Amino acid sequence: MAARIIDGKAIAAKVRAEVAEGVRELVARAGRPPGLAVVLCGDDPASQVYVKGKGKASREAGLHLVDHALSRDTTETELLRLVASLAEDPRVDGILVQLPLPPHIDEGRVLDAIPADKDVDGFHAVNVGRLWSGDERRLVSCTPAGVMRLLAESDTPLKGAEAVVVGRSNIVGKPMAALLLEADATVTVCHSKTRDLAAHIQRADVVVAAVGRPEMVRGAWIKPGATVIDVGVNRMADGRLVGDVEFSVARERAGAITPVPGGVGPMTIAHLLKNTLHAARRHTGVDIS
Ligand code: GUN
Repeated sequence: MAARIIDGKAIAAKVRAEVAEGVRELVARAGRPPGLAVVLCGDDPASQVYVKGKGKASREAGLHLVDHALSRDTTETELLRLVASLAEDPRVDGILVQLPLPPHIDEGRVLDAIPADKDVDGFHAVNVGRLWSGDERRLVSCTPAGVMRLLAESDTPLKGAEAVVVGRSNIVGKPMAALLLEADATVTVCHSKTRDLAAHIQRADVVVAAVGRPEMVRGAWIKPGATVIDVGVNRMADGRLVGDVEFSVARERAGAITPVPGGVGPMTIAHLLKNTLHAARRHTGVDIS
């Protein structure tokens, strides 16, 4: 039987509507909207597209957007000075510095300069530590947080389930594993050097593929009825976008599956807005539910 398609666009629209409602409530109670600062340094075309998308979604949700586009020869000192000023700005609840940064700038030093309570990307060591130690006072990386919502919306049981994460990046794979573990799944993290990926995937009730290799997860490996979440977005030579999962075959075996595009992608921006609202509620003292 063909899998249910998990409609990330529709679910992201729902998250964004929830955020917009939360923003209206915050304005009513605290007298100001959540503020998000987005910093782009350089002229990487993909980053320009991402930043534009983040800006548009922020405005639509009613956020106060502070947009900084810096030239690629901005010095590390100048960037650190900007981050320090945003860190002190009371109207700014979240700071996002788009990666990658130009090679002459130390990314770690810049990310460390963002206070943990404004780190809406969830990259700061304090937020990573709080995630792994189950501390609620944390901001979680947006893509894995979005995946958890997709799993919830598709009624995927996680308690006791075998979950396999393919990919071990700091942005997706590792926080994904932490969240699935927290939800009582039994988690295996596979990666490009895993010896027998097929054997791991074949046991999985839940597969999250975030390895950045087109169709590396073969459809025939998918356990019948499994939920498959494809974080990969790979641009092929002919211009097609392809995920990390062989969708055409996997959809015939899975119980539910995300498409590429239109699956995980829209959830990332929606959760950036959600994190910014969450940070603003903390900063204003308006109750957090
Ligand atoms: N570059 C690619 N993805 C991301 C992201 O989620 N956050 C930031 N800051 N930069 C990125």
